[in-house]
Amino acid sequence: MNPQKKNLPIALTGDRPTGKLHLGHYVGSLAARLRLQEECKQFVMIADAQALTDHAHEPQLIRAHILEVALDYLAVGLDPGKTTLFIQSLVPALPELTQYFLNLVTWNRLKHNPTVKLEIQQKGYGEEVPAGFMVYPISQAADIVAFKADFVPVGDDQLPMIEQTVEVVRKFNRLYQKDVLVEPKAISSAQARLPGIDGKAKMSKSLQNAIFLSDEPDVVRQKVQRMYTDPNHLRVEDPGKVEGNPVFTYLDAFGKDKEKIAELKAHYGRGGLGDVAIKKYLMEELLEFLEPIRKARQEFAKDPGGVMQILRKGTEVAIEAAACTLREVREAMGTNYF
Ligand code: TRP
Repeated sequence: MNPQKKNLPIALTGDRPTGKLHLGHYVGSLAARLRLQEECKQFVMIADAQALTDHAHEPQLIRAHILEVALDYLAVGLDPGKTTLFIQSLVPALPELTQYFLNLVTWNRLKHNPTVKLEIQQKGYGEEVPAGFMVYPISQAADIVAFKADFVPVGDDQLPMIEQTVEVVRKFNRLYQKDVLVEPKAISSAQARLPGIDGKAKMSKSLQNAIFLSDEPDVVRQKVQRMYTDPNHLRVEDPGKVEGNPVFTYLDAFGKDKEKIAELKAHYGRGGLGDVAIKKYLMEELLEFLEPIRKARQEFAKDPGGVMQILRKGTEVAIEAAACTLREVREAMGTNYF
């Protein structure tokens, strides 16, 4: 760890390694992480243990995506000299903290976590939800608290997790009458959530509406070509809807020339500008944005051993940091017997 960063605030986040990262991840939190690594001591975890809570039947998928997600991180510019990249399941203090924190939350509270509720619905679990999945918000609280994170840069679907973490922190500090744990603050994206290419509210791998950071140019072109626009914009001369039109949402997120985008929006709204034209422009802008990421990814991918080594080093740092918090936690509870 960079010793000059000692007194900086701490940021922590992570992603479940069940798929490659896409533009939605970029808008939701990767962009913020790139900023935060300059201003904070940052930890970014590959949350394989959390991924197992709903993928227990396919650990090999998770294993394969540890490298893929690490490549995505490095390709966008997370710098291991500034950000500690690590693997969640290799940090033993995390499950131990989880166990203690589980006693500070009620079953009823867990059942009302809106993100978990939504996921249970989406996955069709009903009453058959895995217990580990039910309690993953508390394991996530342990992730955050173990590193004494001040900031958690995440997409807005994760805000209930931060709320729950704050509750755990307050409860712990009150109960054991010591300010051991730090209340984290969510850093949510300045940009609105990125819709899928199908116009659905959220870009997501499982909805199959994502453009991945690693997509080849041809794939990006095809995906943009079949992007949802304004379904009532049938002829070029018709006025089109800009609001809720993902082509413009993407341009707002990734286009450089804000003036030109404003002009295109006005023109589209008036009528006389076709979907083919705006998509072509979006393609150019997206490809330009993605090109350096794709190139960097290819470079890193030539040396998977080197990438795993980065994770190994980061994990060692993370193990140390989390163990330190765990010691304080046990001390506060008076369970430091020897
Ligand atoms: N829940 C996050 C996701 O689904 C991953 C995650 C695990 C995380 N631990 C975290 C995010 C701690 C922020 C902080 O992608």
